[in-house]
Amino acid sequence: KNYRIALLPGDGIGSEVMEAAWPVLQTVAERQGFSLEGDWLPWSCDYYLKHGTMMPADGVEQLRAFDAIYLGAVGLPATVPDHVSLRELLLAIRQGLDLSVNARPHRLLAGVKGPLRTDRPFDILCIRENTEGEYAGAGGRVHRGGELEVAVETAIFTRAGVERVLRHGFEQARLRGGKLASVTKSNAQRHSMVFWDEMTDRVAADYPDVAVTRYHVDAIAARMITHPETLDVVVASNLFGDILTDIGAAIQGGLGFAASANINPAGGVPGMFEPVHGSAPDIMGLGLANPLATLWAGALMLRHLGEIAAAEALMAAIEKVTATGAGTPDMGGDLSTTQLAAAVTAAL
Ligand code: NAI
Ligand code: MG
Repeated sequence: KNYRIALLPGDGIGSEVMEAAWPVLQTVAERQGFSLEGDWLPWSCDYYLKHGTMMPADGVEQLRAFDAIYLGAVGLPATVPDHVSLRELLLAIRQGLDLSVNARPHRLLAGVKGPLRTDRPFDILCIRENTEGEYAGAGGRVHRGGELEVAVETAIFTRAGVERVLRHGFEQARLRGGKLASVTKSNAQRHSMVFWDEMTDRVAADYPDVAVTRYHVDAIAARMITHPETLDVVVASNLFGDILTDIGAAIQGGLGFAASANINPAGGVPGMFEPVHGSAPDIMGLGLANPLATLWAGALMLRHLGEIAAAEALMAAIEKVTATGAGTPDMGGDLSTTQLAAAVTAAL
């Protein structure tokens, strides 16, 4: 079997981690008896400086032809404003392909302690609604006599939007520990979050084998730090998920590890798999970037493509390396980006 992957290295360390990670993925594929064919697409801030846009006008249409999209990081604020690079590339792809679910695994890799220094292993999959909710952009400002008097930001929750993210959460819970946490603030937000609770009950009826617990967002934020081992699949709205996944990234050891999958649960379009971190202009070109978040995102991509054994072989190789204490400087080690990726290949 051959998969066509759109490779979007983007900017800064985005290209460094992608160039390090891609050969590792190809080796995994070869070992597992399938192949990955990558098309490198130069859409980035450099591309913007030459063409005046972050990607061609038919960029999203071009991406539809691939089996998956593998992305490094986008943004170089010194050359292109972040709201332009983010909106014209990342958000354009997420919205254009309706990648409504953002899934992020949070757990400690073997040998990695993280700031909690806990000996209780945790393994959380945060599933965030990615297209509506508090980030819908609805609202406005009221001025009087030149002064801003009122600013309104309206969260929008549709039945279709809430149902598809919950349903994806329940499907994942079934594949994992059979446990789902639904996150709201329905004691204070009596319209949208009460609706979310009602939708949770309604979808839960189709998954009697999954145990559901409701948490308020403030309580689960604290719980992720004090008792992360009690959580498995966590489903949350756009804003709440944004915040909880940053806590998740922190407790798993930082941005060098955090990986993310953007998917359209209805299928029919490629998913986009990326490290959570940005282009890190402060360390670009120095070989200091940790490639593990990108490799982990690669494992999420392989899993989504149905290549479960390959995804598991890749994670096992990553953990074989982290267990030895080897790593990039952010992990307390002294390997370069390419050396760490090469160590993972060797561990395969
Ligand atoms: P950042 O994630 O690029 O960097 C934050 C800090 O973490 C920096 O000190 C950086 O050196 C460190 N860091 C990040 N990834 C690392 C890695 N793999 N290994 C070792 N250290 C790492 O966030 P920042 O500085 O706020 O943004 C820089 C640019 O990236 C901006 O243009 C921003 O818009 C963009 N960005 C893009 C994202 C994406 O493409 N998904 C996500 C976040 C930011
Ligand atoms: Mg965030």
